Amino acid sequence: MKSHGLDAFILALPKAELHLHIEGTLEPELMFAIAKRNKLKLRFKNADEVRRAYAFTDLQSFLNIYYEGAAVLQTERDFHDLAWSYLERAAKQNVRHAEIFFDPQTHTSRGVPFQAVIEGLHGACREAREKLGVSTKLILCFLRHLSPEDALNTLDEALPFQEYFEAVGLDSTEKNRPPELFTVVYAKARAAGLKAVAHAGEEGPADYIRQALDLLKVSRIDHGVRCVEDADLVARLAEERIPLTMCPLSNVKLCVFKSLKEHNLRKLLEKGLCVTVNSDDPAYFGGYALDNYLKSAEALGLGRDELAQLAKNSFEASFLPAAEKKCCYDEIDRLGAS
Ligand code: HPA
Ligand code: ZN
Repeated sequence: MKSHGLDAFILALPKAELHLHIEGTLEPELMFAIAKRNKLKLRFKNADEVRRAYAFTDLQSFLNIYYEGAAVLQTERDFHDLAWSYLERAAKQNVRHAEIFFDPQTHTSRGVPFQAVIEGLHGACREAREKLGVSTKLILCFLRHLSPEDALNTLDEALPFQEYFEAVGLDSTEKNRPPELFTVVYAKARAAGLKAVAHAGEEGPADYIRQALDLLKVSRIDHGVRCVEDADLVARLAEERIPLTMCPLSNVKLCVFKSLKEHNLRKLLEKGLCVTVNSDDPAYFGGYALDNYLKSAEALGLGRDELAQLAKNSFEASFLPAAEKKCCYDEIDRLGAS
């Protein structure tokens, strides 16, 4: 049975969102508004028609339409408005901190200057800290369907703006694009002082998670659900508390799991892994961070203790300083006790 008390508890939990593609927060209404001001014609008549096209069979079927939607973004203002509209929603869901992916190659390949992308996003992030009390960090993702050389060029273009982003990541098509391809660009990013994360084990095998850890030297894994295919890897993830940024609604939409009930989030949480709940591409997958918590709680029968642990894990896995993490743990503990 559904408990409204539990729903209120989930809303009240301070949360950190660690797996969120800013291009994946583009709601169809904003897509139309931005297309209009940029004098672009979409192949859809209205927002409902766009939403009806969101029936995916796998990661690639989603990525095709996601890149099509992202093509309306052209100016610094567009990137600002995109990020601002996400951050306003996040604040209402009690997301206190968001570590946000962006895909510069999706935009620079269309002739959009890198500077317009990063300054638009950064401007919204600065405003969110002041006006919404939400802190943020940006994570620059390399598109793994493109070449390692392209990734290196992107890093070189980005480094003059290094003060605006915290880490590098790896996203897009995973199958047959092993992390090892990106060893050199990751080494260069880490040498510049950037942190590292990578998508691995969403559609790709458990070995891609090992490669991300051992070759790219990431401090957390995005998705990682296929770790269960390698018992030694699961033991290592638990032992080293390597965070997995899981996205339950995304996994069902992209047919990684048949239903939320089959998701391995709870099982891995029980094994002591630092599992976190996130939204991936919420405008496409039917829900933001809060919705992912609510629906996972219902489908997997998560109780207060497990939900509080997930929220604590989200801060533990974040790039926030230890003192800020501690404040959030204490706030979560006080909520649990009340
Ligand atoms: N996986 C890989 N690439 C992505 C995703 C994802 O879930 N979302 C946006 N780009
Ligand atoms: Zn993702």
